Amino acid sequence: MRRFLIWSLSILHLVKGEAVELTDMFGEMQSPSFPDSYPSDSEVTWNISVPEGFRIKLYFMHFDLESSYLCEYDYVRVESEDQVLATFCGREATDTEQTPGEQAITSPGSYMSLTFKSDFSNEERFTGFDAHYTAVDVDECLEKSDEELSCDHHCHNYIGGYYCSCRFGYLLHSDNRTCKVECSDNLFTQRNGVIISPDFPSPYPKSSDCLYRIELEEGFFITLQFEDNFDVEDHPEVSCPYDYIKIKAGLKEFGPFCGEKSPGRIETRSHSVQILFHSDNSGENGGWKLAYTAIGDPCPLVEPPLNGRIEPSQATYTFKDQVVVSCNTGYNVLKDDVESETFQIECMKDGAWSNRVPVCKMADCKQPLELAHGFVTFSTPDNLTTYQSGIQYSCQPPFYQMVPNITGIYSCDAKGVWNSAELGTGLPSCQPVCGKPRFSRSLLARIANGRYAQRGISPWIAMLHRNGHPFCGGSLLGNRWIVTAAHCLHNDLDPENPILQSSDVISPSSFTVILGKHRTHKQDDTEQHLQPKSLFFHPSYRAATLENDIALVELSEEATVNDHVIPVCFPEGPQPKNAMVIVSGWGKQFLQRLPDSLMEIEIPLTDHVVCQEAYARLQKVITEDMICAGEREGGKDACSGDSGGPMVTLNNQTGEWQLIGTVSWGDGCGLGDRYGVYSNVFLSLPWIKQVTGVEY
Ligand code: ARG
Repeated sequence: MRRFLIWSLSILHLVKGEAVELTDMFGEMQSPSFPDSYPSDSEVTWNISVPEGFRIKLYFMHFDLESSYLCEYDYVRVESEDQVLATFCGREATDTEQTPGEQAITSPGSYMSLTFKSDFSNEERFTGFDAHYTAVDVDECLEKSDEELSCDHHCHNYIGGYYCSCRFGYLLHSDNRTCKVECSDNLFTQRNGVIISPDFPSPYPKSSDCLYRIELEEGFFITLQFEDNFDVEDHPEVSCPYDYIKIKAGLKEFGPFCGEKSPGRIETRSHSVQILFHSDNSGENGGWKLAYTAIGDPCPLVEPPLNGRIEPSQATYTFKDQVVVSCNTGYNVLKDDVESETFQIECMKDGAWSNRVPVCKMADCKQPLELAHGFVTFSTPDNLTTYQSGIQYSCQPPFYQMVPNITGIYSCDAKGVWNSAELGTGLPSCQPVCGKPRFSRSLLARIANGRYAQRGISPWIAMLHRNGHPFCGGSLLGNRWIVTAAHCLHNDLDPENPILQSSDVISPSSFTVILGKHRTHKQDDTEQHLQPKSLFFHPSYRAATLENDIALVELSEEATVNDHVIPVCFPEGPQPKNAMVIVSGWGKQFLQRLPDSLMEIEIPLTDHVVCQEAYARLQKVITEDMICAGEREGGKDACSGDSGGPMVTLNNQTGEWQLIGTVSWGDGCGLGDRYGVYSNVFLSLPWIKQVTGVEY
């Protein structure tokens, strides 16, 4: 009842030609008086509008109008803004031609109007119509056929609208539709390169402004070469209105270029080029590709120097090209008085070379270094020192020999350095010949009881002289070392606490080493006085027991090796038992006085156990570093003043005298069943060689 009243009100309102505005998302429209028969002469229009992005779908739940030819009497007409979408009349049961039936009508846009009209008379009773509409979403992604409006890459529909998005690497342009690329920051600094439009040879992005810069050092000239495959959107009449390439090179400009004809080759004559590529928001064109090269002005031709060559060898050289000048073997590049293996020159931007080509000069080894106690002989005439010249080093005979024992032949190598097959560029040294006295013992004079030695028989012996008196002996090693007894080089120690302190050591300046000496007190014309520089005690020397009673004296100058001054050799190994040795010195004779000149004795080495037993009775210990010598019956022995002096033996293989021991101590002198005790040089040899560096 109530419902009837509402519709009655509506009908009252619907005066002929009246329009109803509908803006809801759905709604219902009925013929006047529905479901009663509609009145004659009525006309109602419903204007339906829905939001942008929607369409209107209309369908009839009921339809019952007077039928007429072309629906000229009563009808329902559905229209969009500018076109009639349908005209209906008749009744569903009989007339299927012009009734809407099950069919729904969709508006092309967001507006639709529905007009109901009845004419003046109705023969029958018709109930009219009941129609519904709903707003339906438009899938713009499926329906936008117009290229101008569709998404460039991806389209996303949503209810009431759509939006576009771009593939990775692209940006949505402010038109919200096209996809552009960020391509304004391309800097090329290599001398060669290839530049392509984005995605080449696929179509380039829309709405983009790409800037490519080629920046090279001044002096280069950039040439661009576009490939024939060129496709930039153009226009038949207007010059490149849409997409184009423009090139700026210094003050010059090239382009705009577009179309399908490649710009080809462009010689810019500039070291700085900017390529601007613009695309608008439409078009599918393949783009372009170019290769660029940069070259400078050529430098004049260079000729290799005499005895030399240049690399690389080219027909022309341009800016930045480098040429390395090198010389044939045995020659060096000479530039500004400096010799070197190679010299590099560079073609500069003004087309001139950075330097002149240097000359090749034959390698020169210059004067060879001198060898102390040696000399050089040239094997090439005129004492030439240039490449392939030869020299030979020798040592002054007969007192010096080469160490190591080599030929000493050197030749000047291609680098200008004296070079030997044996030592390379290293030099040998001339070392004194050891253990070969210039005078031999006369066989007649046997060394019995001890006897005066012949002059020059023991040329290695040294007299240690202090305060006008000889106090110890020693032996020459090399030409600046004396080996002696450690106890010779310090003052007497406190018997209660015989530990050596540095204050007990005598000063090197307080004594003199005399070589070439023969007579005890009188001067010899062969003698050489040498000043000690430093003293070295055996690290295991013990003053209390005289273990390792051995020390080294470094001389401040070299001794002059001559007939009367010759060093002794190192021992080759431990001596056989009972080997005969010779001991010499200026020490006391039995008469408790010094002899007039050097004395020597020849005695056998004593078995270690025998010696240990002999001294055990005196509570004295013979340690491994000690050697005993002497005859059981006594008689021949060193004595006070002989300490430090040499105990030598002849090496029969080499004919060299070698130092076996240094005089150390004994109980009395020459007593029976007592033996002289000597420090074993062979055991101290590693230390001696390390301290002195002497090698023969
Ligand atoms: N210590 C003594 C010296 O200073 C040498 C002793 C040698 N004695 C001996 N019987 N071998 O000269």
